[in-house]
Amino acid sequence: MRLKGKTAIVTGASNGMGSSESKLFASEGANVVLADVDSEAGQQLVEEISEGGGNAHFEICDVSNEENWQSMTSNVLAKYGSVDILVNNAGISSTSTSDLLSTDAWNNIMEVNSTGVFLGTKTAAEIMKSQGGGSIVNISSIMGFVGGEYGHPAYHASKGSVRIFSKAMAVRYGPFGVRVNTVHPGFMPPMTSSDHGIASKRDEYVAQTPLRRTGESIEVAYGVLFLASDEASFVTGTELVIDGGYIAQ
Ligand SMILES: NC(=O)c1ccc[n+]([C@@H]2O[C@H](COP(=O)([O-])OP(=O)(O)OC[C@H]3O[C@@H](n4cnc5c(N)ncnc54)[C@H](O)[C@@H]3O)[C@@H](O)[C@H]2O)c1
Repeated sequence: MRLKGKTAIVTGASNGMGSSESKLFASEGANVVLADVDSEAGQQLVEEISEGGGNAHFEICDVSNEENWQSMTSNVLAKYGSVDILVNNAGISSTSTSDLLSTDAWNNIMEVNSTGVFLGTKTAAEIMKSQGGGSIVNISSIMGFVGGEYGHPAYHASKGSVRIFSKAMAVRYGPFGVRVNTVHPGFMPPMTSSDHGIASKRDEYVAQTPLRRTGESIEVAYGVLFLASDEASFVTGTELVIDGGYIAQ
């Protein structure tokens, strides 16, 4: 019950790592708000969490749309009375175009991964400031530290922006009790829109990873839980890399 009584919004909660974080948060006593554009999978997850005795609620929200953030957080405040935790997890790693340097692809990825985190962080930070505190965990990537031959250049740029923007917000909102940290996962299949499904790519990543395997979404969720909880009460502006040692070399 490490999050007992807290209200947590998780974006991109319907699938992948967001769903693991949401289930873990609910099992630790939080009221979890699943915010996503995929309402079908989100509603199914609400049912699953509720059947397991947890408290969850779905809100449709495109993280790149400021009005969506305003209406979603208003609904959450009306229902639960506070926003104690925000996990900005929603993200995309590619677009429909194969031209990695097309301006449309750049804008599309930056809108979701970078602008989405900006909008969520500023909206929640103001709410948390008025409440006297809160914790924001922004999901970046190891690709926010290093470049790569295969990845989308805009993906690296968007995740680098999440990393440094979070530090700036940690400094700005620290005096109001609002903590802002980043988590940097390594290779965690099966990110929907990426090359992770290609076996040769996966084998290559595994061979280059000191722990010689891919990660599990729950291994990221435990790191997010720590930063979200009061156990991390003196932790802000920091980066937690969960990658099997990939970027340690
Ligand atoms: N999977 C990996 O290997 C990996 C590694 C490092 C970082 N990450 C990051 O972790 C996060 C989650 O990745 P994942 O692998 O679980 O992805 P996923 O593709 O499995 O799930 C992403 C979720 O985000 C939602 N989403 C997409 N666009 C959205 C939008 N505009 N508004 C709201 N929701 C939206 C999708 O509907 C989906 O439910 C992402 O930010 C990703 O960049 C993933």
